[in-house]
Amino acid sequence: MPLPTIEWLGGIEGCVRLIDQTLLPTEFRQIECHSIEAMWEAIKVLRVRGAPAIGIAAAFGTILGIQSSRAAKYDEFRRALEKAADCLATSRPTAVNLFWALERMKRVADENRLMTIPLLKERLLDEALAICEEDKAVCRAIGRHGADLIPDGGGVLTHCNAGGLATADYGTALAVMFAAHEQGKRFRVFADETRPLLQGARLTAWELMQAGIDVTVICDSMAAAVMRQGKVDLVVVGADRIAANGDTANKIGTYAVAILAKEHGIPFYVAAPASTFDLSLPEGEGIPIEERKAEEVTCGFGRRTAPEGVKVFNPAFDVTPARYIAGIVTERGIISPVGDAAIRAMLR
Ligand code: MRU
Repeated sequence: MPLPTIEWLGGIEGCVRLIDQTLLPTEFRQIECHSIEAMWEAIKVLRVRGAPAIGIAAAFGTILGIQSSRAAKYDEFRRALEKAADCLATSRPTAVNLFWALERMKRVADENRLMTIPLLKERLLDEALAICEEDKAVCRAIGRHGADLIPDGGGVLTHCNAGGLATADYGTALAVMFAAHEQGKRFRVFADETRPLLQGARLTAWELMQAGIDVTVICDSMAAAVMRQGKVDLVVVGADRIAANGDTANKIGTYAVAILAKEHGIPFYVAAPASTFDLSLPEGEGIPIEERKAEEVTCGFGRRTAPEGVKVFNPAFDVTPARYIAGIVTERGIISPVGDAAIRAMLR
């Protein structure tokens, strides 16, 4: 990334600066969020997006929510923190990293309840900054563990954007590609454009081109034909929430890619940090799937492409059953084969 995807500016009275991803690739602009409402809106409309980046945004968002609190006692301060967390929790439901970050912030507050409120605020800011810094290291480790999967001279297909824009830096699925590229491997990436919001065409293609990686954008509906032509040796995607058995929620269309990969004998891998696992859910059935506005489908990017008033179904994510997943690349290593016991052993 030429500049950080998301960062905190200044001390406890500071603000969040992030790349407005709704404008890419035609315009590169950073915006500042000075209030929790602005942070909520940025998450909701996907100015900042991708599961790990949403987690970081939530952590910084809680600071925006409590920075002006005049509470003198812990209980009152804790209520303000809870209110901020509750607000951010309503922004997007699927990426568990958001809830993971909010819980972590609340836990740190409770652990330090004896601090004075000004010191506690500083402690919480340190924690939010740590969440952001840790994500950078986690993404590098995912890249290191996954790079061997990339076949030298081969083809890789990915869906949506799981790159530096979706994390603090470097990405998850794209980290695997960046690391292989840094090792000198040559390979070609097919980026599904990813209807309806085109994260693949707008963001993944942009990131890979910047890194000098050979990338070809295809419409989502072309993946089967490209696989049939023998151009894809590996699929790697990111994840928004992984259940205890390995069932994985990711951008809508991922499930179809997994089925296609199986049909064509192509290994399908997920790359995700430990913070994307939700071990409270035994299987993917319980993962809440966000439904977004009809206009994203009927009037994407300002041009109407379906009749006014037509019924629309617009789930933002789907769940790929674990049986389609050859392995999950985490910062601790690759979980393969995928199943409850292997996941628990890796995350322990
Ligand atoms: O709706 P988005 O753009 O936030 O969806 C993002 C994805 O589905 C990513 O693949 C996922 O969050 C992993 S990001 C490392």
